[in-house]
Amino acid sequence: MQFLPSLKIGQHVVPYPIVQGGMGIRISGANLAAAVANAGGIGVISAVGLGMNSPYFDIEEKNPKKRQAHFFEANRLALIDELEKARELSPKGIIGVNIMVAARDYETLVQVSVDYGADLIFSGAGLPLQLPELTAHRPEVALVPIISSTRAAQVICKKWLRHFGRLPDGFVVENPQLAGGHLGAKAEDLDDPAIGSAVIPELLTYLRQTFEAEIPVTAAGGICDRATLDQALALGASGVQIGTRFITTDECDADRRYKDFHLNAKPEDVVLISSPVGLPGRALRNAFVDQIAAGHPSNPKDQCFANCLQVCKFRDSRETYCILRALDRASRGDVDNGLVFAGSRAGQAQQIVPVAELMAELTGA
Ligand SMILES: Cc1cc2nc3c(=O)[nH]c(=O)nc-3n(C[C@H](O)[C@H](O)[C@H](O)COP(=O)(O)O)c2cc1C
Repeated sequence: MQFLPSLKIGQHVVPYPIVQGGMGIRISGANLAAAVANAGGIGVISAVGLGMNSPYFDIEEKNPKKRQAHFFEANRLALIDELEKARELSPKGIIGVNIMVAARDYETLVQVSVDYGADLIFSGAGLPLQLPELTAHRPEVALVPIISSTRAAQVICKKWLRHFGRLPDGFVVENPQLAGGHLGAKAEDLDDPAIGSAVIPELLTYLRQTFEAEIPVTAAGGICDRATLDQALALGASGVQIGTRFITTDECDADRRYKDFHLNAKPEDVVLISSPVGLPGRALRNAFVDQIAAGHPSNPKDQCFANCLQVCKFRDSRETYCILRALDRASRGDVDNGLVFAGSRAGQAQQIVPVAELMAELTGA
């Protein structure tokens, strides 16, 4: 196996060019992030909806205003807990937080992240146009937008330079043709060759020609073994972001039944679904996904209880389903009635292994 380069984003350097993708809800919490950081990669906590399965929130609270306020406060407190726990488990590792721009408590979650020791912030599901302003008091925190097109990177670079005099410390380019979770392209555009792996060389050319700084680009989507990792580096990426393969590890924060469901997945189980956020998502087929496809996914008793997203078809027009509930159910082990996000190459793992073993397989170390 060839020698792998280290990865530097902002002032943070890790021995291996591997970023563990942020995965919500509570698929990548402190346990997984710390284990990846201890094994020489960048570990990432997903900040989305952490309050759901925390001691700070009671979904049965009757007063809707109180319930909503409690939910956002629970997210804040639960993120502090995860950051403190990750630091305890990995005192010297490099730990990031993934925060969706589409979350209504985005600004609070960014503040908590920088105040409680995150080394990097990864931010997608929208353009993180205000991120430098929100983190100006902690310039050591590296800022990494997650994008799926060069156009999005151009908009971010121009806005950040004009308003804040700085550029991103790195980009994650997520390939919507392969990645798990919410995808940064409409379902009808997914076959367009221009949005796949072509984006990395195109973005690198733009960054090199327009700015003098070398900005590291990390490739995400479908990276599941050493061969796909090497292919991404050969395109010019400085690193890879891996989500799905980290689910079938001992340290992944999800329930064991969630990990087993991933372990037993076959290529034909991976499907596209529509999400209330207005984006397609990639997930594993189960009874819940079949219900969505049949057009009646919501329990009639379900109501929006937290007003958690900027845009939500479930809240605004009772279309689709409550994504918080669906992701939370799955991560607690109800893999029939919950939403199990997965990348297109799900089911590659032979067994559930410690993160250190998976990292050794990927790096050859
Ligand atoms: C279960 C799951 C949950 C995810 N949750 C998030 C998230 O909360 N925020 C985000 O930006 N990306 C999320 N993603 C995307 C991952 O961070 C990563 O970019 C993606 O999984 C890469 O593709 P791969 O799964 O083929 O490795 C999620 C992916 C999965 C599989």
